Amino acid sequence: MKKKNNSLEKIKSDILNLIEKINYYDDLYYNKNYQEINDQEYDSLREQLLVLEKNYPELRLSKSPNLRVGAPIKEIEKSISHTSPMLSLNNAYDEKDVMKFYERLQKIVKDDFDIIAETKVDGLSASLRYEKSKLKVAITRGDGIKGEDITKNIMHVAGVKKELPTSFPSKLEIRGEIYMPKKIFNVLNNERKKNGETLFSTTRNAAAGSIRQLDPEITRKRKLSFFGYTVVADDSNFFETIIDIRKKLKENYFALNEPSHLCKNVNEMIDFYNKISKIRAELDYDIDGIVYKLNSLRHHNLLGNTIRFPRWALAHKFPAENVFTKLLDVKFQVGRTGSITPVAILKEVKIGGVSVSRATLHNEDEIQRLGLCKGDTIVLKRAGDVIPKIISVVKKNRSTDVEPIKMPIYCPSCNKKLYRLGSEVLSRCLNYFFCEEQVINRLSHFVSRDAFDIAGLAKSQLKMLWEKGFIKEFRDIFLLSSRADDIAKFDGWGKKSASNLLYAIKKSQNIAFDKFIYSLGIRHVGQGVSKLITKEFNNLEDLINYYKSSKEKKNINKKVFEGIGDTIANSISDYFSNKENLEIIFNLMQHISINYTLKKQAGALLKTNIVITGTFQSYSRKIIENKLIDKGANVLKTVTNKTDLVIVGEEPGKKLHEAKNKNIKIIGEKDLLKIIN
Ligand code: IVH
Repeated sequence: MKKKNNSLEKIKSDILNLIEKINYYDDLYYNKNYQEINDQEYDSLREQLLVLEKNYPELRLSKSPNLRVGAPIKEIEKSISHTSPMLSLNNAYDEKDVMKFYERLQKIVKDDFDIIAETKVDGLSASLRYEKSKLKVAITRGDGIKGEDITKNIMHVAGVKKELPTSFPSKLEIRGEIYMPKKIFNVLNNERKKNGETLFSTTRNAAAGSIRQLDPEITRKRKLSFFGYTVVADDSNFFETIIDIRKKLKENYFALNEPSHLCKNVNEMIDFYNKISKIRAELDYDIDGIVYKLNSLRHHNLLGNTIRFPRWALAHKFPAENVFTKLLDVKFQVGRTGSITPVAILKEVKIGGVSVSRATLHNEDEIQRLGLCKGDTIVLKRAGDVIPKIISVVKKNRSTDVEPIKMPIYCPSCNKKLYRLGSEVLSRCLNYFFCEEQVINRLSHFVSRDAFDIAGLAKSQLKMLWEKGFIKEFRDIFLLSSRADDIAKFDGWGKKSASNLLYAIKKSQNIAFDKFIYSLGIRHVGQGVSKLITKEFNNLEDLINYYKSSKEKKNINKKVFEGIGDTIANSISDYFSNKENLEIIFNLMQHISINYTLKKQAGALLKTNIVITGTFQSYSRKIIENKLIDKGANVLKTVTNKTDLVIVGEEPGKKLHEAKNKNIKIIGEKDLLKIIN
């Protein structure tokens, strides 16, 4: 019995673990437009969870991602409910799965049927709602039940018609994919590179980032497009087949994802898949597979849907692509903190429709592990948005003229000796103040979007200003205003760009405390840690004094608050104990002012009196309390007239009753998670 309980506990924890992982990747993909693992790895997590839930239905949790499509949408966005769920597609990775799908259709649909095979567009889905022929609302897929309101932005997307013929049903939705054409993507990224802005990794990322803009004008400039692939209408007789829908959409000037093919049998489906996978790079939009759909809408009803996908469709995904190319060289880059990162320089290849000529090697050990030599033929892999990675070397092809990669002993930028400190996997250049690449990277970090946000200072421009002696330290950026005429005369500049730059600099002079801390580029201090610091210290002076003195007193107990462990604390302490750094900050402070109001803003629940009752599936009571306190709330034991909010979990106590009596706002676990996460 005990054993059974133990193993049940283990399964419960496996389920929780899987849910946490899936939720993390979903949030990354749907809310942050980023993908860390490939689709196959992701699907395997979902499959593992599905199997466990099937075998142990009693352990299934209401928050299981198998009960929803997409990621939970963020509270702050204006969300709108879909008229019917916007489902996802079931994925297949090999012909066996496609056969199974086809056999199932044969079993259920007794008469003849056709399958339409079309490209699977790698964009983001949206639903356009028309009323009385006019486009009224546009919504992203969101969690499948509710999506974000993108009405204002959709008006600037090519291929979206604002009006439909009056012969169409009066209430109708067109669902399809918003995407960025490859050509537009390349132009946009080139421009961003010139302006020193971060590049979009894929067209999907770029489309997602461009449609979710508060300012629709930005969406307009990004030149997105839309393909319609389905219609949802009350009048179910208006369309009979998918081919019908596509024809009518085309007649009304909607763009369609082509090529497509009406298949008579499973062999034709697979032939189409193979044909498209060969010409994929020639299409002017990115695709990640082929979608097979039963053509007749009457047949769709026979098959129905699961909670996540329709049984009448299947996405046959392209596998993570491997290509061969040649390793031309390995360059060693110097980061803003002096870390040396190897980057592989490759003979340019197309992979997944994108040209690749570089790949990161993470660290020197990776070079040893792979046994890389200059001139080697290597296997490069890229899946979805994941950055290309060298997975192996083709040693049997190795010619005699390959040259081992030399690990640097001296800094590739300043020629000073490199060190590998403690157990670190990276070598480091310790010439902190004078190594050109290090300083330029630090300056570039300082002006980046999440720090001082000064547009117009790309690395190449900073390098020029540094080499001409205009900028040596942070302060000098703010002294550029007196040199406008000189700057306007530099190669590639002009009066307009010089004055734009000076305007951007001026605008940046008032900065939030957390952004200021982040801008300094202290090792291990990213945006999250910077925010934590602003909660602990009232101002810069307190911060400096604390870390400066703690070092002087050799106080090793610096791990004083959550989120800041020894490594980070030591790094901050080293930074503020350095006389030169303090001088740089002192000089900088003559030109800027730090805005300390953030502390209040970060405390979204500042002074809110909260009472908790019941148990929760996601976190223990203690963790929930801590998270609420972190956000500025007062967590109290009893419900009084001063209570602002009562949070109710499973099996609540009498506090729930009291809250109802006193008419106090009550929320459940779902809303709690929105607040604390
Ligand atoms: S049909 C019930 N057709 O892929 C869903 N979807 O991974 C019917 N997608 O959510 C969708 N190209 O956003 C369909 N030709 C295509 C598609 C397509 C891309 C998207 C769609 C879906 C996602 C699932």
